[in-house]
Amino acid sequence: MFLPESIRDDFPILSREFSDRRIIYFDNAATTHKPRQVIEKLVEFYTSYNANIHRGLHYLSQKASEMYEEAHDKVAEFIGAKERRSIIFVRNTTEAINLVAYGWGLRNLREGDEVIVSTLNHHSSILPWLEVAGIRGAKIKVVGVTSNGRLDMDKLREMINRRTRIVSIVHMSNVSGAVTDIAEIARIAHDHGAYIVVDGAQSVPHMPVNVRDMDIDFLAFSGHKMLGPTGIGVLYIRLEIIEEMGNFITGGGAIKEVHYRDDKFIVEWARSPWRFEAGTPNIAGGIGLAEAIKYLEGVGMENIWRHERSLVEHLLKRIDEEGLEEHIRILGPRSLDRRGGIVSFTIEEMDPHATAILLDREMIAVRSGFHCAQPLHEELGFRRGSVRASFYLYNTLEEIDLFIEVLKRMTSKTRTSS
Ligand code: ALA
Repeated sequence: MFLPESIRDDFPILSREFSDRRIIYFDNAATTHKPRQVIEKLVEFYTSYNANIHRGLHYLSQKASEMYEEAHDKVAEFIGAKERRSIIFVRNTTEAINLVAYGWGLRNLREGDEVIVSTLNHHSSILPWLEVAGIRGAKIKVVGVTSNGRLDMDKLREMINRRTRIVSIVHMSNVSGAVTDIAEIARIAHDHGAYIVVDGAQSVPHMPVNVRDMDIDFLAFSGHKMLGPTGIGVLYIRLEIIEEMGNFITGGGAIKEVHYRDDKFIVEWARSPWRFEAGTPNIAGGIGLAEAIKYLEGVGMENIWRHERSLVEHLLKRIDEEGLEEHIRILGPRSLDRRGGIVSFTIEEMDPHATAILLDREMIAVRSGFHCAQPLHEELGFRRGSVRASFYLYNTLEEIDLFIEVLKRMTSKTRTSS
């Protein structure tokens, strides 16, 4: 059995004291802490082989290029992609989805085509499609959620048709923690000749994700949410689609050759992924991400998934045992079925930001507000947003118990009886 206590020492920030207290970090859906293995890898890069990639024949450049290329291979293997060509390094999930919208959508969407998005999505997997569909005259169709914060699959089945070109869906909601059946949506999308674009920002860091098992076309995720550095993210593109992609950001590194002859530029693009990674990329970030993946694999993605679900199970059980359920309104599924380590809630009439500030006084870090998913909050009647506790491999049952003690003090149940 995996015990978080066995790895906590790897995370320097977790043993730091802030005003003589250690932090209980429940803001992992926003970003995660880094183990010393990843931090040391970044130091190793800058102290041992810092150089630009693909631009030098000298030793340092060769070494940096090799490490950066291998980082793509590591990511490919981690998500079950066949080849490095499918793995584009970008800044984050948002940039990855913009790359699909502008790279594929701008070139391929036509007037009258349809793009399906969901209110379950993070704004990042809605807004790029609004922009590009607007430019191309395509129509946006929106699939909502059920009362417990899950994608409304019946509605999706009704909505999709032969005009649908793209279904852009979040895998695990960054608010409700609900996990959507992506393999089933991929099947439905493909039956109608559409592509599926999956926002994996909250799933890839927390559970085994295999692009070939799910048979998806695009997958976006961020390194910093999976123990890696900030400023590095990934877009997976199914091999067969790469040639349908137009450019999004072009420049140095994206080309094989450029000529100016007879008053014309002739451009021969580089192969993927380099064609989509113009400019000096985040070399250290890519190498750091590969190290983070090695760390996650060392713990085991199944172990991480099971552990986070046991934390949620414990939290929901304690809320129930302590009679807090009438004071705490949870946004999302109450069952453990198809849900991950995120619990969003409000306490009675308390403003979510006020709740977060009170929790911060107890050194419990959560996020409050709409979490970049305002339509979801509005659809479910959480008009002022919610407070979100999101877990990762280093969180413990003891931290959940401390959290419950603080929540008890914050509800009127305790306030009026004490
Ligand atoms: N997308 C990140 C979150 O949900 C920042 O907090």
